[in-house]
Amino acid sequence: MPCEVAARFLILYGSQRGQAQSIAEEICQQAAEHGFTADINCLSNQHKPVVFVVSTTGDGDPPDTAQKFVRKIKNKSLPHNHFSHLHYALLALGDTNYANFCNGGKTIDSRLQQLGAKHFYATGHADDGTGLEVVVDPWIEGLWDALKKTFSSMATSDQQDTDLSDCTQDNFHKNASGQEKYKSDLEVDLHLLKLSETDSQKGKAITSDSIDVETLSTVLVASLKQSVPPLSESALNVPALPASYLEVRLEKVSTEGETVPSDKDGYHEVSISKAVQLTQDDAVKTAISLELDISEQNLAYQPGDAFDILCPNRASEVEELLLRLDLQTQKNCAVQVNLLKNSSKKAAKIPLRIPQNGSLQFILTWCLEIRRAPNKAFVRALADFTQNSSEKRRLLELCSKEGSADYNSFVRDANVCLLDLLRAFPSCLPPLSLLFEHLPKLQPRAYSAASSSLQHPGKVHFVFNVVELPARPEHPARTGLCTGWLAGHVSSILWPLGTVPASEQSGLILTVHVRPRPSSTFHLPADLSVPVVMVGPGTGVAPFIGFLQQREKEREANQEATFGETWLFFGCRHKDKDFLFREELERFAHNGTLSHLIVCFSRDEPDAAGTVNSPTYVQHNFLHAKNVASILIKDKGSLYVCGDAKNMTKDVNDTLLEIIGNELQIDKLDAMKTVAGLREEKRYLQDIWS
Ligand code: 2AM
Repeated sequence: MPCEVAARFLILYGSQRGQAQSIAEEICQQAAEHGFTADINCLSNQHKPVVFVVSTTGDGDPPDTAQKFVRKIKNKSLPHNHFSHLHYALLALGDTNYANFCNGGKTIDSRLQQLGAKHFYATGHADDGTGLEVVVDPWIEGLWDALKKTFSSMATSDQQDTDLSDCTQDNFHKNASGQEKYKSDLEVDLHLLKLSETDSQKGKAITSDSIDVETLSTVLVASLKQSVPPLSESALNVPALPASYLEVRLEKVSTEGETVPSDKDGYHEVSISKAVQLTQDDAVKTAISLELDISEQNLAYQPGDAFDILCPNRASEVEELLLRLDLQTQKNCAVQVNLLKNSSKKAAKIPLRIPQNGSLQFILTWCLEIRRAPNKAFVRALADFTQNSSEKRRLLELCSKEGSADYNSFVRDANVCLLDLLRAFPSCLPPLSLLFEHLPKLQPRAYSAASSSLQHPGKVHFVFNVVELPARPEHPARTGLCTGWLAGHVSSILWPLGTVPASEQSGLILTVHVRPRPSSTFHLPADLSVPVVMVGPGTGVAPFIGFLQQREKEREANQEATFGETWLFFGCRHKDKDFLFREELERFAHNGTLSHLIVCFSRDEPDAAGTVNSPTYVQHNFLHAKNVASILIKDKGSLYVCGDAKNMTKDVNDTLLEIIGNELQIDKLDAMKTVAGLREEKRYLQDIWS
């Protein structure tokens, strides 16, 4: 429906890894269809109504590009009516697997409110943990009416605030089923506690491990391609996206020779000096430790910091994609991207993620995330390039509002990628420009340092489990993009557990591209006497190996100093298969670096004495180690939790509430406030991944 008022508004985004930016771009793209002209800008560059899209990073911080803006608006000398002219809507992105959900957006939102700015539309809080689109899609849908109201009330009266008040009463936050709304953070937190109980009971369907591509597309017909019962014709009426705004030309100049993106983004090519398998061959997961030689590049880091690693898409997948798009013979052509002159997307820019003159193969290998599940806008765009009517119909269903459940289970939760969709819908043949518009930037993967440079000068270690994604009806079995690539990359120099020679020299030089990613908080307390409690099952122990190596050296160097207690809660499946860093941890416990090493095994049979197998998870030990609460509360110790975000960190958080409640004899709500206080004082820190 075209808007009658000539209406221009500004979209501001603060984006760490490009997600907020691409959603902001999507809003910008849709604006024209609704009769608006949108200007889009990054917060770092910064009247009219404003739409903010802000993500969250670190411990709930606004992204780097928003920092300057946040500092500016936090300036205490600003008058309380500084933004009284400003009408804005804000979409905050976060992940409920992490603490301080959506805090980047919330920080900006609450400060703008303090400075007199007014919502013209309720704030959206989108959760990457359950799928951003659950909130993002309806939020964008509702935005247009709210904007129309704003513009028409601006045109007719000065009293727009009263007109808009109904939009601002509630925070716009939906849970995965899209049903509940919350007014306060505390309610959201309470809700998360409830969710964590049910989450841990969810099982994952595992299907056959090997399935050939032909069988696969037949099976896909059954899951991806059918809706039971079929959706109504009206459901298929999903509005088309504006026409493509990019023009892609392939120049027949050979651009062979590019290997990886240049180091202008701060990446360094470093050699891998050692690779060791940390688990027995019969362990369920394979953990690998890498040692990188960073001496020549002079890269400094502290335990607790991480490094970004660049990883390419799988050559086989890139080849198949090229073949499928009929571009195989043009893979070495130089790609030139221009804006289409008559594009309806006024503020469109050539996406920065696509380097001019890079070869097609290079761009698909190093610049675009081809494994990410296509979002609904992408599915909608693919439908326009699908000849077969039943295939087209199914794609339209998948991106329709009514088809949300199918989209979630068959596309997003199934980790279906573009190639899987193209296999399932053989008549779909999208142009390259569509891929360039919709595929996000291939992001580096961050790994926590598992070493201290005091103990390993000029070196940094990382630890990771090789992620295995079993075959599903929707796709063949595959390994995680970066962990699978790293494992393959180092397979020829990998030492099996227990065989690593003191001085190793494989003769083979393997390299990776890394960039330091310092943490602003996840470090040992500067005061050596502060007690430290660490919880890190599985590869979550990585940063604590770095902490303990540092402490061991500090103890050697400061014999007179008083050191606070150090506790480590570690857990794995089997004592003899995946007890990572066993020898090193036992050495720390033996020489006093660790005052308490508390380990549990989740899958070992009880031994004769009945001592093994009870308790099974780190939080069970954490619950029974009663001193821990008093160490945190009375002795002002620091608690560090590292590992899998899905269940462990929530379960440990629940246990923390319980032990603090018991220690202080307070109820759950007060315990939550105490824990929030620990977070605020940066004495409860998490380094978690999903
Ligand atoms: P499991 O795989 O036997 O369930 C490292 O991955 C260790 O963490 C394993 O022993 C794993 O047990 C355990 N783990 C799995 N889920 C957990 C949870 N919710 N809380 C704590 N530990 C967990």
